[in-house]
Amino acid sequence: MKDKLASMLKEIRGQGNYRTVRYLRPVSASTLRHRGKEYLNLCSNSYLSLHLHPEVIEAAKSVVDDYGAGTCSSRSVSGSIDLYERLEDAIARYKGYKRGLIFPTGYMANIGIVSTIPGKGDIIFSDELNHSSLIDAMRLSYARKVIYRHRDAADLERKLKRHTGRGRSFVITESVFSMDGDMAPLKDIMEMRSRYGFHVIVDDAHGTGVFGKKGSGVEEHLGLKGRADIHMATFGKAMGSFGAFVLSDPVVIDYLINRARTFMYTTALPPAALAAAYAALGLVERDLSFKEDLWTNIDHVRTGLLDAGFDLKDSVGPIIPIVVGKDSDAVKMQKMLMAKGFFLQAIRPPTVPSGTSRLRLTVVRGFSRQQMDDAIEAITAAGKKMGLI
Ligand SMILES: Cc1ncc(COP(=O)(O)O)c(C=O)c1O
Repeated sequence: MKDKLASMLKEIRGQGNYRTVRYLRPVSASTLRHRGKEYLNLCSNSYLSLHLHPEVIEAAKSVVDDYGAGTCSSRSVSGSIDLYERLEDAIARYKGYKRGLIFPTGYMANIGIVSTIPGKGDIIFSDELNHSSLIDAMRLSYARKVIYRHRDAADLERKLKRHTGRGRSFVITESVFSMDGDMAPLKDIMEMRSRYGFHVIVDDAHGTGVFGKKGSGVEEHLGLKGRADIHMATFGKAMGSFGAFVLSDPVVIDYLINRARTFMYTTALPPAALAAAYAALGLVERDLSFKEDLWTNIDHVRTGLLDAGFDLKDSVGPIIPIVVGKDSDAVKMQKMLMAKGFFLQAIRPPTVPSGTSRLRLTVVRGFSRQQMDDAIEAITAAGKKMGLI
């Protein structure tokens, strides 16, 4: 076995696609230490920089004394401590849904939804760039899969007309795509739903806390708050904690409690994660300046990179793709920036389609003006060397 794996690893290396894990330590909301050197973190998903906010940390600490370090049971057994109930109620209210259910991770929430609800005889229509958790979830579903072109509502409609069946149909999309930072045509999808009668499943992992007047996500931003049939998002990105949730009608939630294996057969989230997420949600709801400050930074970085001549594709928020092309070129540019004190990852297949390897920059609230200007200058210099601009 080892020989076979070693030869496959050699092949991965040869493609410039070899990954390693980099161990690090956070220093501040925007910086980290890796092997003794300090870097500006240009790839955090903690968009609102809440993972180091004193109130969030204090909330996590304060429950440990009463509840302990872990739940040590699945939620169906004795893991559903009361901290779940208040967080499920709060997140459902914030996002305009009737009921919520927390899962250990977004990956597991997506697997739970898609492998449990669409079944034999049903059809799932899925955006071609949906997150790997949704792709894996479809592999576990007995429903038929139809892939439509990225963000292409016309292609979706063509496929809806062509593929009809006796069962139910589902359309699955991310709201803001994790690697391209562009937005799904949710308005078109919702409008088509009334004509074609499918069910809409939205993954708002990267929209939550970032988009919408109150920050509740892309649905709020587009005037569609609470309108998906099943909505999923995470506490592990803008909310600065860990875990994920599904929001829907009580019947859907009850069904997931009874049938979703990634809910039933895994240990529940620890108390500290639940308390941190609850505190972060409270902060975001009562203080819009978190979101406003993030958007000031997003506008600054985007303007700087656009002025430098970068093509930021159709990205619209904190996720900024700098598409380099070849895997090895993306790694080269990443190394140039790491050498200058900027921490980021080259994103390569299978995370993104072949030939579109990139640097995926993310903007967070914790950046200072100077840090952003330094990053823009360094990325511009590296982009020139790579012939991108
Ligand atoms: C769009 C999207 N969905 C789901 C997930 C999975 O969430 P989690 O990291 O909580 O498993 C992620 C992040 O990794 C994501 O980007």
